[in-house]
Amino acid sequence: MAMTNSSVFKDDVLHDRVAIITGGSSGLGFGMAAAYQTLGAHVVLVGRDSEKLAHAKADLEPLGHEVLAFASDVRSYEGTTAVVDQVMQKFGRIDVLINNAAGNFHCPFEQLTPNGWRAVVDIDLNGTFNFCHASLIGLKQSKWGGRVINISLAQAASGWPGSAHAASAKAGVTALTRSLAVEWGPYAIRVNNILPGPIANTEGVKRLYEDRGQAEKELNRLCLDSFGHTDDIANAAVYLASEAGNFITGCDLSVDGGRWLKRAWV
Ligand code: HXC
Repeated sequence: MAMTNSSVFKDDVLHDRVAIITGGSSGLGFGMAAAYQTLGAHVVLVGRDSEKLAHAKADLEPLGHEVLAFASDVRSYEGTTAVVDQVMQKFGRIDVLINNAAGNFHCPFEQLTPNGWRAVVDIDLNGTFNFCHASLIGLKQSKWGGRVINISLAQAASGWPGSAHAASAKAGVTALTRSLAVEWGPYAIRVNNILPGPIANTEGVKRLYEDRGQAEKELNRLCLDSFGHTDDIANAAVYLASEAGNFITGCDLSVDGGRWLKRAWV
């Protein structure tokens, strides 16, 4: 796993922030966790696989504070409240919530089963609901103004042949982000989307493009000439959580090499 040992940001830019990162033990989530650790945050990982969480915790702790790791499925509201309760007992606040946990697989709509649809919508959209809903009490206590960072996708707007389930779930995430930005502005809570493009060495790129021999085609959908890196998403997540993001709420931050603009499906 790539580790972030140096950063484009000042070392203390996230000093003392309590940050929950769902799906934090691998891929984009781990990249964000590593950046947050390096920059002074107290990182809380949520994931389904205890073993992966234990490895991530061991890799991250040398970079900063103790890492809390909870084995929980974002689809469970009870599990979510149990995580939030423990974070609140330890810190009394939540400064940043990153809803990163996601599920996806390539499947044409006519072959998709109701349970396949439900699994992805439950993880991506209902999981985001669960953590937003349960975390509000903690986000209100942040002295910096709470930050919610949701991972959505430009495909929510363009549609996504072969991933209608994920595009639909992410469209819900985008709408939730915008709704909460308005409702929670009076609490000084900023709520934003990051829209990642294809990021090298992630499960998403592997299963959606590489395993299907579609990597070259996807690359040609970008304005730039290579896939992104986990650090590209991590840097955006640091920016939004830091004081540089004080006046940003309700936005879609595309970090995708221009894929949203070019994006031909053929
Ligand atoms: C068709 C499939 C399928 C596939 C699962 N299903 N994989 N259908 N093609 N490849 C169906 C199953 O048959 C089942 O329906 C239903 O989905 C639930 O499957 P389970 O395996 O029982 O569910 P579960 O164990 O909860 O797993 C959830 C999951 C899984 C979403 C299906 O893929 C997962 O855990 N993914 C997490 C990691 C991940 O997906 N990462 C990539 C994120 S990429 P039936 O009817 O048979 O019961 C991303 C965007 C990337 O978010 C953007 C790139 C640019």
